[in-house]
Amino acid sequence: MFWPHHRYAWGGLTWGGLVAVTEAHRGQGLGKTVNAMMIDQVIRNFGASHIYELISASNIPSRRMVEACGLRLEPSLTCGIATPQESKRFTK
Ligand SMILES: CC(C)(COP(=O)(O)OP(=O)(O)OC[C@H]1O[C@@H](n2cnc3c(N)ncnc32)[C@H](O)[C@@H]1OP(=O)(O)O)[C@@H](O)C(=O)NCCC(=O)NCCS
Repeated sequence: MFWPHHRYAWGGLTWGGLVAVTEAHRGQGLGKTVNAMMIDQVIRNFGASHIYELISASNIPSRRMVEACGLRLEPSLTCGIATPQESKRFTK
């Protein structure tokens, strides 16, 4: 028996890659373009039925980037990431 979300792909490190744009080039649409390409590839290549991205509540540029690619906040789902103690954050 499969976990009910087994065809959900994380648009993060495992499947698509975490989107980051160097500060000098932000605000020019690069994030939206790369994120949209990532979503397209994950759906085509891995046959995912859904894709989800994890964004901290304060990261407005990231949220707007993801929403511009057609994803929406799903308040009924909760998630978390476990990292070693005292490790640096890899997202904002
Ligand atoms: C998130 C990130 C990748 C966006 O890249 P970008 O190339 O600047 O984004 P875009 O130019 O494609 O813009 C995406 C949306 O964010 C908005 N936006 C961009 N910078 C913004 C800012 N400083 N404040 C508010 N909104 C902003 C844009 O207006 C656009 O929204 P719209 O289509 O509704 O107008 C970039 O800010 C980044 O590298 N951040 C650090 C890494 C990170 O947090 N990655 C995501 C982890 S979940």
